[in-house]
Amino acid sequence: MKILVLNGSPKRENSDTLHITRAFLEGMREQQPQEITTIHVIDRHIEYCTGCFTCMRNGGTCVHDDDMREILKQILDSELLIWSFPLYSYGMPAHLKALLDRTLPLSSMTMRKVGDRYEHAGQADFSRLRYLMICGCGFPNSRHNFEPAVAQFRLCFGAEGTVLTVPESPMFNAPEAAVVTAPRLELVKKAGRQYAKAREIDPVLLAEIGAPMIPEETYAAIVNGGV
Ligand SMILES: Cc1cc2nc3c(=O)[nH]c(=O)nc-3n(C[C@H](O)[C@H](O)[C@H](O)COP(=O)(O)O)c2cc1C
Repeated sequence: MKILVLNGSPKRENSDTLHITRAFLEGMREQQPQEITTIHVIDRHIEYCTGCFTCMRNGGTCVHDDDMREILKQILDSELLIWSFPLYSYGMPAHLKALLDRTLPLSSMTMRKVGDRYEHAGQADFSRLRYLMICGCGFPNSRHNFEPAVAQFRLCFGAEGTVLTVPESPMFNAPEAAVVTAPRLELVKKAGRQYAKAREIDPVLLAEIGAPMIPEETYAAIVNGGV
């Protein structure tokens, strides 16, 4: 499978979230060989969308001539698009949102009703593309935290898109936390194996992956310097 990873962490390879993504890919690779390309989005030249809609009327060409032209080709050439990013202000980091907005050339102006909502018809054929979101965050709680990012992902990429969220993610970069992060990454690897095999992950496993690694109060006390 051809996999494109959009790493939205400005920390590039040092991203807390990328520990989760690497474990997931390792699990997938255990099941079958994968061709993986990673883009550190922060390093790419991606202008903001001007909102002119030229791309939707002009056969898909954006007025900006920047790295998005190549990235759009890479997206269309992939079978799995992984959005790997840290939660910023309950959403995705701004540079990754800029990339998301700039995928507009893949859609046409035509609106169609799907269930009780509208979406744009595709201007390119991305029917073989699947979507996965992997998101880490700094707080110990998942509720009242990940919801806006998950809702945006599902509205953009369909309810069947797979979502992995992990709270307390700075612990992935703390060697002293390995006693809890290593078993969590094993669960993520297992999810990767399941996904490679069946294109879905057991909801019970997803819930285990999304639970705090240490009790919320203990984590908050450590962060606050009390432990
Ligand atoms: C600007 C900014 C906004 C953030 N907003 C949130 C937030 O809304 N909720 C949360 O739990 N963590 C938030 N965090 C914490 C990061 O999600 C957390 O540090 C994460 O582990 C960083 O992952 P990375 O190393 O992959 O970039 C924020 C961090 C920054 C720098």
